[in-house]
Amino acid sequence: MSDVNENTARLLPGAPVAAAVLAEVGERVAKLREQGVVPSLATILVGDDDASAGYIRIKQKQAGELGFASPHRHLPADATQADLQRVIEEFNADRQVHGVLIQYPIPGHLDYDAALQTLDPDKDVDGMHPLNMGRLALGLPGPLPCTPAGIEALLAHYDIPVAGREVVILGRGATLGRPLAMLLAQKRPTANAAVTVVHTGVADWPRYTLRADILVAAAGVPGIIQPEHVRPGSVVIGAGVRYAGRRLLPDVDESCAAVAGAITPRVGGVGPTTVAMLFRNAVAAAERASV
Ligand SMILES: NC(=O)c1ccc[n+]([C@@H]2O[C@H](COP(=O)([O-])OP(=O)(O)OC[C@H]3O[C@@H](n4cnc5c(N)ncnc54)[C@H](OP(=O)(O)O)[C@@H]3O)[C@@H](O)[C@H]2O)c1
Repeated sequence: MSDVNENTARLLPGAPVAAAVLAEVGERVAKLREQGVVPSLATILVGDDDASAGYIRIKQKQAGELGFASPHRHLPADATQADLQRVIEEFNADRQVHGVLIQYPIPGHLDYDAALQTLDPDKDVDGMHPLNMGRLALGLPGPLPCTPAGIEALLAHYDIPVAGREVVILGRGATLGRPLAMLLAQKRPTANAAVTVVHTGVADWPRYTLRADILVAAAGVPGIIQPEHVRPGSVVIGAGVRYAGRRLLPDVDESCAAVAGAITPRVGGVGPTTVAMLFRNAVAAAERASV
């Protein structure tokens, strides 16, 4: 029998969390529709990458099922930055559109950050616009970065106490570690943690992860977290992943399940919650726009 099968850790799958979040989103969409507002999440795809086209299709299908309108623009792979900006500006100006999703990645000759910065921050359902990062830092309302928000929702869903506990995050990247640290340090019942962020500048980072009540792997380095880095009985959230073709290579080695008290599964942990947060940001944007 392998180590993996001997694990005793409680598994924390993301699907039930996403289902609960989406059920609440569906109710909020229905309420807006009763008031005559049709929440609208626009999508932009550039190029013909199969995986990106597939992700957009899934999100559009889900948007439809939740009751969102979902206008879509598909630009060719050789679209210019000006073409992309034009579509974003059209959606910015369209009062019927409440949220805009630019499917990432976009072709290499285009500048994603520049495109994001032309998006109306109030329509930024990924929560990644610099203004929304600023709102997060200041504790102001606005779209939240989806993966960090999904991790907070996952911990809350499984009644894992966060307030007053020590959360150690391995990684300070802009999409994950940095905004997650800001989010979980906020003064709210599902956050309010003592947050420590470690990275390549902290050579002895295991010293910190070994004392964590909750360890979040956000490095994007396959297998970087091994059982000897995990405090026995603690909660381990594997968010960092890398892809080798279609193969998913997580930061957290599966053998950590033998040491952790609770752990996200290798596949289907944080990912589903990230997508659910996109829709939560979209319905919140529609609510804000309709008051
Ligand atoms: N599950 C999801 O839905 C989801 C969503 C978004 C992102 N992600 C994943 O999350 C990961 C992080 O994303 P990101 O955009 O924040 O990445 P990023 O900008 O590349 O940041 C990676 C961080 O990890 C640190 N790191 C890398 N190697 C390390 C090492 N050997 N020892 C210690 N620290 C190390 C880096 O430290 P330095 O700062 O010192 O370089 C950096 O802070 C990626 O794997 C990404 O695929 C997952």
